[in-house]
Amino acid sequence: METLTISGNSKREQYESLFPQVEAVIDKNVDIIANMANMAAMLHETFGFWWTGFYRIINNELVLGPFQGPLACTRIAYGRGVCGSAWKERRTLVVPDVEQFPGHIACSSASRSEIVVPVFQNNEVIAVLDIDSDHLSTFDETDAEYLERMVMLLDIF
Ligand code: SME
Repeated sequence: METLTISGNSKREQYESLFPQVEAVIDKNVDIIANMANMAAMLHETFGFWWTGFYRIINNELVLGPFQGPLACTRIAYGRGVCGSAWKERRTLVVPDVEQFPGHIACSSASRSEIVVPVFQNNEVIAVLDIDSDHLSTFDETDAEYLERMVMLLDIF
């Protein structure tokens, strides 16, 4: 597969259309970074988010990984910002208005809402998927449901 084909008008339909295409490009014979890179690219292209990418846990801090969008903070401490909090709490955080989130790290002033989904491997958080929108209240339970399922595709290495 070389190009994405997304059908459907609702977000749920679009995730349903995207999901098998992401599944098809996940390659067990390459490292997790290559797979994260394609997953970020495909999500970004499908939904036109502001920033879509991964932070990986390296030496007990989050380090910038594969992403699409403007440049971003390189490192984030445990418990800091939305990303560090999702890591600490081991759960997805949906933030409808980043200005209302205590300790939000503004990598970009254009970011208005955000979702962060922990990536588990053998029950350990090894990374987070972070998506930023330049609109308020972009993310909801539908995003959480599909993104949690999608990052489970990375738990194969
Ligand atoms: N806003 C995030 C930091 C990462 S950037 O948005 C790409 C946070 O508060 O964790």
